[in-house]
Amino acid sequence: MSRSPSRYAVIGQPVAHSLSPRIHPQFAAQFGLALQYEAMDVAPADLAARIAQLHTDGYAGLNVTLPHKAAVAALCESVSERAALAGAVNCLSRRDSGWIGDNTDGEGLVRDLLRLGIAIAGRRVLIVGAGGAARGIIGPLLAAAPSELVVSSRNPWKPEELAERFKAQGALTPRTHLALKGDRYDLIINATSAGHEGAMPRLPSNLLAEGGACYDLSYGPAHAPFAAWAQSQRGVAVVADGLGMLVEQAAVSFDIWLGHRPDTDPVLAALRR
Ligand SMILES: NC(=O)c1ccc[n+]([C@@H]2O[C@H](COP(=O)([O-])OP(=O)(O)OC[C@H]3O[C@@H](n4cnc5c(N)ncnc54)[C@H](OP(=O)(O)O)[C@@H]3O)[C@@H](O)[C@H]2O)c1
Repeated sequence: MSRSPSRYAVIGQPVAHSLSPRIHPQFAAQFGLALQYEAMDVAPADLAARIAQLHTDGYAGLNVTLPHKAAVAALCESVSERAALAGAVNCLSRRDSGWIGDNTDGEGLVRDLLRLGIAIAGRRVLIVGAGGAARGIIGPLLAAAPSELVVSSRNPWKPEELAERFKAQGALTPRTHLALKGDRYDLIINATSAGHEGAMPRLPSNLLAEGGACYDLSYGPAHAPFAAWAQSQRGVAVVADGLGMLVEQAAVSFDIWLGHRPDTDPVLAALRR
């Protein structure tokens, strides 16, 4: 059995597109650490056996991406409260007896909004989409004290379920996209995967308040439809993609694993280049 505390990986399927193997070595270099970080294609049927094997092999930490974020939670020895609420785990940390699961997506988003100078406290915030990523960001957004947090979906039941799930964390208003008509938000967050199909959810017009911000969890080509919609909104001040969130959530994982908080700015700049 090889025991190297510096071995890390991201598991998913597909996973070849993952930027994590480019991000973590740059973080490690900031602290003069040698770190091995691989991308591993893992089929859902192999997930349990594979993470058990990676534990036996001495891996110190794993990132988890689609489609395993929900299933891996049940394979952890324990999960953080925020991961339990999100029903999704994207970061595994090694203990001798098993894996500890956490979800760093929401903290990553809030850190990126802070970096961009986009306020949450006292603002009206809309999350468009009610899937796994929405579940990951709702808790940290509620903790940042918006004056109102609304989640909308084309499926009327999903926002209702989320409002029920997070009621102990704060008030989350469930809506269908159509029922948003006449509302105004300071921050609109796209948490749908529609951009991967080149699509934009159908929303009522004039949803953005004057000087408001539009933030897309998607990045790369999948950001294009929301970016075009956002740029066409009257009074828009900021349009941002989710690349910064990706780097920030990776930084939170890195800190959990190694106890160092990396400087994200140079890494984000390198990825944009
Ligand atoms: N930047 C980052 O670090 C980061 C982290 C996590 C996720 N993400 C991104 O966040 C996005 C969502 O991921 P996820 O894990 O939440 O996916 P998911 O669980 O599959 O949920 C996708 C959501 O998008 C909605 N949707 C899909 N196509 C749509 C369309 N054409 N019109 C309207 N709504 C549509 C779905 O609605 P229904 O429920 O009605 O099907 C669902 O609410 C992805 O693009 C992902 O890459 C980014």
